[in-house]
Amino acid sequence: MESYQLKNGTKVFQYGLPIETKAVIAPKRKMKLKCDLDVKFQKDGTTISIELLSEDRIYGLGENLGGINKRGRIYESYCTDTPSHIEDREKLYSAHNFFIVSGKVVRGYFIDFPGRITYDMGYYNQKDINIKIYGQNFYIYILEGEDEKEVSSKFLEIIGKSYVPPKWGFGYFQSRWGYRNKEEVKKVYKTFKENDIPIEGIYLDLDYMDNFKDFTISQERFSGFKEFVEDLKKEGIYLIPIIDAGVKVENGYDIYEEGMKGDYFCKDKEGKPYEGVVWPGKVHFPDFMKKETQSWFGDKYQKLTDCGIEGFWNDMNEPAIFYEQEALEKAVEYAQKKLKNKNLDVFSYFKLKDNFTSLANRDSYYKNFYHEIDGKKVCNEKVHNLYGYFMTKSTYEALRKILKGKRFLLISRSSSIGMHRYGGIWTGDNSSWWFHLEQNMKMLPSLNMCGFFYIGADTGGFGGNCNGELLTRWLQLSIFTPLLRNHSAMGCNNQEPYAFTKKVLKNTRNLIKARYSLIPYIYSEYMKSVNHYHLMFQPLSFEFKDVLAKEIEDQILLGDQVMIAPVCIPNYKGRYVYFPEEMLEISFMHPKKMIGIRKKGIHYINYRLEDFKFFIRKNAMIPYVKSCKNLKKLDQKNLKILAYVDNEAIYNLYDDDGISYDFIKGKRFSTRIKIIKKENNYEIKVHNTNPSIKNIEFKIIDSENHITEKDISFINKNQ
Ligand code: GLC
Repeated sequence: MESYQLKNGTKVFQYGLPIETKAVIAPKRKMKLKCDLDVKFQKDGTTISIELLSEDRIYGLGENLGGINKRGRIYESYCTDTPSHIEDREKLYSAHNFFIVSGKVVRGYFIDFPGRITYDMGYYNQKDINIKIYGQNFYIYILEGEDEKEVSSKFLEIIGKSYVPPKWGFGYFQSRWGYRNKEEVKKVYKTFKENDIPIEGIYLDLDYMDNFKDFTISQERFSGFKEFVEDLKKEGIYLIPIIDAGVKVENGYDIYEEGMKGDYFCKDKEGKPYEGVVWPGKVHFPDFMKKETQSWFGDKYQKLTDCGIEGFWNDMNEPAIFYEQEALEKAVEYAQKKLKNKNLDVFSYFKLKDNFTSLANRDSYYKNFYHEIDGKKVCNEKVHNLYGYFMTKSTYEALRKILKGKRFLLISRSSSIGMHRYGGIWTGDNSSWWFHLEQNMKMLPSLNMCGFFYIGADTGGFGGNCNGELLTRWLQLSIFTPLLRNHSAMGCNNQEPYAFTKKVLKNTRNLIKARYSLIPYIYSEYMKSVNHYHLMFQPLSFEFKDVLAKEIEDQILLGDQVMIAPVCIPNYKGRYVYFPEEMLEISFMHPKKMIGIRKKGIHYINYRLEDFKFFIRKNAMIPYVKSCKNLKKLDQKNLKILAYVDNEAIYNLYDDDGISYDFIKGKRFSTRIKIIKKENNYEIKVHNTNPSIKNIEFKIIDSENHITEKDISFINKNQ
C-alpha cells in the first residue's frame, strides 16, 4: 500500500494499481501514513468496515434514494437505468462514492474506484458500515475537519470546481418525450406566451431524430431545423436536443460507418464491435475511454451547434441496454419450446415472465464488452461507472472548442465524481409521486457534497400522471434548484403549467415568475458555492447542532440565508416547520412579502397552493428583482432586498456576464450590502461594481416585527 497526502491534509491510501478516474485533481505527495481502516482482501473484492457509534450520522452518496442521513439503508454504486425509483431501490444512474460520518468526530471518505461498490450503512448491523468494493485496486481518501462543512469543503477543493452553465440555464425549461414535430414544439412556446408564463427553452427528446439516430434530424418532422432553431432563438427560446449513448447499426448511416472505420466502438469478447439493443434497435457503444473516440464523438455535436444549438442532454449513458439479441432469443426459445401447450403453474409462469422482464440492463451484459485504456483491453464491468462521465467529458471538451468562449448547457443522466467539472445532471426517470418530490429535496445536499451543483429532478415527475396539486407543490421546491425542468414521459398525461385548471395555471405561472425574480439570488448562490467550495444546499445539521436539527429530514438550507420547507403531502394546506433559530416567514406571493418573525421551535405554517414560502435566517437578506419573460429581459436596475436584521447582516451579490468564461479571469461584479441596526434605524453600506444595478429598495424587519423601508440610488453617483 502506498500513501499520500494532499495540500489540504487529505490522506490518500492506494491499494494495488488503481485505474485513474481523475475524480480528484489535487496533486498528491507521497508520505508514509497509517491507515486505521479495517480493510480485508477477498477473492472477489475487498471489504471495509467502519464502526458506527449510536450518535453517528452519514451524509453524502450523491444521487441515491433514502434520507438526508444515509444511515440505516443499503446502497450500491453501479450506474443503472432504473426507471422505477421504489422505496428499496439501492442504485440509480450515477455512482457518487463520497460520504461523511459525523458524530464525535467528523470524517469524510471517498472511494475512488470505477467498478461496483455496495454499502451497508448500518442496515443489517446497526453498529457498522460495511462496504464491499468489487476489486482490489482503488484509492481511499480520508478527510478530517472540525465539522461537516469543513470536510465537505475540503472534498470539493480536491475534486475541482463544478461546471458552470450560462445564466440562461437558470431559466424555466419545458420538456416532454413526445413533442413529435416542429408544430408541437412551437405550440408549447406559443401557449406559454399566450398564458404569460416565462420560459427559457424547450428540451427536444428523441422525437427530433431520424429513427433514433444520434446527430440526425428527422426531415419529416423537423425539416428546416436551422431556421426553426433560429426563429425560436429570436423569441428568446433555446432548444436543447438529447443525445443517446448508443449508435445505431445501419449501413449508410455516417456516424455508424465512421465509427466502424475509425475503430471507435467498444468490443465484444471476440474483438468485434459489441452489439446491444436500445431505442433504434441494434447499437454499438462509442468507447469513451479512448482519446480518439472522445474527440471523434465530441466533434459530432457541431452538426447541431451549426444549427444554433447551445445545449444538450446526454442520455442512456450508464449505458442502458434493453437487451442483447442472444438473451432475447433464449427467452423466446424458452417460451416457445418448453412451455408450448403446457398448463403453467405459478412457478413456471413466473419463470416465463421473468425471462422477459429481466432482459434490460442485465449484469451479464456489462461483462460482455470491453474498452481500450492505454492500449489495454478492460472489461466494462471494471470501469462501468465512468461511461457517462467520459461521454460528457468528451461533449464538454468539444463544445469548449466549438463554441469558443461561449458557455453552454450540458446535463447527463449518468455520472460519477469528476464529471461534475464537465456538466450537470438531472436525476433520471422519477415518477409523479409525492414521495419523489420529497426525495428530490433530500438529494440536493448529497449531490452538492459530491461536487454536483447544476442539478434538478424532472419537475412534476417523469413517469405516471401528474396532477395540478403535485405540479404546484413540486414547483414550490424546484424554484430553488439550479436546473428547473418540467419533463414527462410519452404516454403520460400532459403536465405543462397550462395542462390543468385555470387555478393551477395561475399558481404555476406565479411560481415560475417568482423563479425569475429570484434568479439574481440563485445565480449568485450557485456561483459563490462553486467558486468558494461550499455547499449551496445544506442539511440543517450542518449549521445547527441541536438534537432536532440533526434529525430533520424534510427541511434544508439554501446558502447562508434561507431555509426551505416544502409541502410534500397531498391535501395539506400547511405543515409543521422546525425553526432552529428565529427566522422571518416570507410569503413571496403576498404584497407585503414579510409575514413575521417565527420564534425558535416548532410552528404550524400555513402554506397554500397559491403561495410560495421560505424563511430568511436572522441577520440575513435575500435580493430579488422584477420578474421577466426570459433571461434576456432580466432587468436588475431596481434591486430589492428583504432582510431580517437584529444587529448586522451582510450579503454579497455575485454577478458576471452570464455567457462567457471571463469570470474565471476575475471579471465579476459584486454588490456588497451591509445593514447595521442602530437604535431606531439602520445604517446601510453598499459597495457596488455591478453597472446594471441602479437602485436598491430595502425592506428590513427586526425581531420585534418592526418594518423599515429604505431606498438607495446609484444614478449619477460614483458606484
Ligand atoms: C430516458 C430519459 C428520459 C427520456 C427518455 C426518452 O428514459 O431518462 O428523460 O425522456 O429516455 O428519450
